[in-house]
Amino acid sequence: MSALIEFNEVCKFYQMGDTVVKALDHVTMKIEKGEFVAIVGQSGSGKSTCMNIIGCLDVPTAGTYKLNGRDVGKMKRGELAAIRNEMLGFVFQQYNLLPKLNLMGNVEVPMIYARVPRAQRHARAKAVLEQVGLGDKLRSKPNQLSGGQQQRVSIARALVRNPPLILADEPTGALDSHTGREVLGMLQELNREGHTVILITHDNSIAMQAPRIIRLEDGRIVYDGDARSPEAFVSPVIEAAIEDLQKKAAQEGGEAACS
Ligand SMILES: Nc1ncnc2c1ncn2[C@@H]1O[C@H](COP(=O)(O)OP(=O)(O)O)[C@@H](O)[C@H]1O
Ligand SMILES: [Mg+2]
Repeated sequence: MSALIEFNEVCKFYQMGDTVVKALDHVTMKIEKGEFVAIVGQSGSGKSTCMNIIGCLDVPTAGTYKLNGRDVGKMKRGELAAIRNEMLGFVFQQYNLLPKLNLMGNVEVPMIYARVPRAQRHARAKAVLEQVGLGDKLRSKPNQLSGGQQQRVSIARALVRNPPLILADEPTGALDSHTGREVLGMLQELNREGHTVILITHDNSIAMQAPRIIRLEDGRIVYDGDARSPEAFVSPVIEAAIEDLQKKAAQEGGEAACS
């Protein structure tokens, strides 16, 4: 049986004037159905590009991407849209909710695209909002909610068509650490229920909760394996420590200059 996700030498290059930015540089990997994978790496390492390709929002410059055994590069626009709607649920850092619609309306949007009849839409939207603990806020507007609650709405929206694959790009990035852990817990629960979950994060404490980590640096996979292995994080931890030291030094230098 084929893997759910299969990258073979996937590249994404951008020509910027005279230079080529290698957002993804010959990435080869497989993700099986039912996995929970965290993609980690510094800002600019290619995480979002990777996610956009997995989510059929973008196509590789070179190499092949197979989703459920089918070559995404060979699909037509209509097929891609259908795959996105049936197979994928997206959760973004900035929630991307529609401000004028209440929670029911927001969660119904993917079902409108899928032409689900009205009564069924309402029932399903209500059920998923209850599932994420917002059953008492069905008629609220997004701006009446906290960040954590808004992220739960976006999880409900991602779930509403029961997609096998959930893609979350920095879903905890705009949340405090407590709320972030709650959102992570929700994604873990979905994984236990059988959804494959791919989580992008630059937060090591979040990533460590995933059984498998793929670490990117400059568009290349530099680690793929167990989150508990020291190699999973070694470089970002050191870099973060150096950054901290540099910040402190700059602050102290600044203070010294002022006094
Ligand atoms: N549309 C684009 N045009 C040019 N360069 C891009 C574009 N999208 C991403 N990049 C570059 O590709 C690299 C990887 O970006 P991205 O995947 O967004 O990284 P991450 O999500 O890890 O921060 C970065 O150097 C970024 O500047
Ligand atoms: Mg990103």
